[in-house]
Amino acid sequence: MDDGMILTHIIGWGLGLLLFFIALVLYSEKKKKQATIPHMILRLDYLLILYTGFVLLWRYFDEDGSSFTVQAIIKGIAGLIVIVCMEMILVKLKKEKSAKAWWIIFFIALVITLLLGFGILPMGFLP
Ligand code: HEM
Repeated sequence: MDDGMILTHIIGWGLGLLLFFIALVLYSEKKKKQATIPHMILRLDYLLILYTGFVLLWRYFDEDGSSFTVQAIIKGIAGLIVIVCMEMILVKLKKEKSAKAWWIIFFIALVITLLLGFGILPMGFLP
């Protein structure tokens, strides 16, 4: 079943978190012009995360009676929230506004995403 979709998904969000961090630091230092570059690449990367995420999610619907369909849907929703939070945090920083509420949601959603992704759902690398 491994056609590299899981790996591509992991590369996608791994790269995403990295680009998010770089843009975050640059916006915090008020280097708005420089921050635009990682921010734009991150937006393209959202598409990769979404594409691979939905392909993976689809497998749970194809597979009749998978016992993990509900967990996979929750994982997908949490993943979507992570993406929305990254974008909102960066836009708030760019406008020099507080992103506190988004940070809280970001961490909660990220923990849920990683727990479900690595800990509970059956595909992928980790046992
Ligand atoms: C930044 C956002 C995201 C992060 C950090 C993330 C993280 C992860 C992780 C850690 C795994 C497990 C990889 C493994 O077991 O080796 C995974 C798998 C998966 N992700 Fe995501 N993901 C994100 C976005 C999404 C989105 C938007 C969707 C769907 C709409 C999605 C759907 C899935 C599905 C269905 C799997 C397969 C789970 C399995 O069968 O093991 N993910 N993701």
